[in-house]
Amino acid sequence: MIQSIIKSSGMFVPPNLVTNHDLEKILDTSDEWIKQRTGIEQRFWIDPEEGVTGSSDLGFEASKTALKTAGWKAEDLDFIIFATLSPDIMFPGSGCLLQAKLGLNSTPALDIRQQCTGFLYGLATADAYIKTGLASKILFVGAEVHSTGMDKSTRGRDITVIFGDGAGALCIEGIETNDKAGVLASSLHADGNLADALMTELPASNLPVRLPPDVSLDDPRYFPVMDGSAIFKKAVRMLPQVINESLEKAQLDLDEIDLIIPHQANMRINQALGKFLKIDENKIFHNIQKYGNTTAASIPIALHEAMEQGRIGKSGDIVLFAGLGAGLTWGSVIYKFL
Ligand code: UT7
Repeated sequence: MIQSIIKSSGMFVPPNLVTNHDLEKILDTSDEWIKQRTGIEQRFWIDPEEGVTGSSDLGFEASKTALKTAGWKAEDLDFIIFATLSPDIMFPGSGCLLQAKLGLNSTPALDIRQQCTGFLYGLATADAYIKTGLASKILFVGAEVHSTGMDKSTRGRDITVIFGDGAGALCIEGIETNDKAGVLASSLHADGNLADALMTELPASNLPVRLPPDVSLDDPRYFPVMDGSAIFKKAVRMLPQVINESLEKAQLDLDEIDLIIPHQANMRINQALGKFLKIDENKIFHNIQKYGNTTAASIPIALHEAMEQGRIGKSGDIVLFAGLGAGLTWGSVIYKFL
């Protein structure tokens, strides 16, 4: 049977390091508050002084590493999937822009707009394309540029201290094998009734004029707004449920999972998840302290680092991915290395 196998990974963050102390200088916050409430110590933001860099540029850098490690040329790809909530422009999608940067001109490119679960929806989509024979060599990228779209005044401090820029990329190949390997199970969910718990409203196609002339550019609707505590509570409740659902689908017990790589939204969410599941805390991977929440990039960056550190990646290792975010959307995917 054909299985979806991760051949390689890559990651990229822009060089401009922004510490919590740097943020103390621009808005009313403190290193202590940020560390205590989120676990974040620093993040990387693109430097507007050096020219604005879009999500596809960050994704391009991560893709170069993934392609080189896989030993693939861009021409070998038969599909590109790009997950982002911060596309370079309103349309066309960043997948098309990345495709052109890779020197291609006919390879299909699909954008996924699922925010923090972009990786989970994207990996499940890549798996479906491979298993139905629609593609066999996929480049899958999660990339975000949050820093140019946040309210960097005290009004937006709950969001601004959390989000970072970055990109992760995977080369995924359809391989014929009798081994039980690759994507073993995917469980995806959404509840659009809670869309306003985390959203950016403007520009909006549901208005007579997308950029209303009477609305100041300082209007909060131009910036992401979040009901942080509602999302926190929802995450702590839904993540264990969806993890159990994917374990059941894969017919696995939790103790057969070698590493859980959750979305990096808040260290306390992931610690609460560990307590709820009653698992050894070393089995949950964290890197939010270094990068903040990079949304669609957070799980692929974490996977890349976990593989580089030798925490996961040997033949037979099983990793479980899980996350919840805007939409609301949530999900879990289980993957076994070949
Ligand atoms: O990845 C996408 C999905 N998003 C998430 O998963 C986020 C989930 N939520 C969270 O991570 C947390 O809710 C936050 C980190 C966003 C906020 O932490 P919290 O412990 O829920 O704080 P809170 O919103 O209840 O606010 C507590 C206080 C408030 O002050 P008062 O009203 O008690 O005086 C806030 O104004 O903390 C204040 N506050 C801040 N203080 C210093 C909010 N943001 C900041 C800040 N610095 N950056």
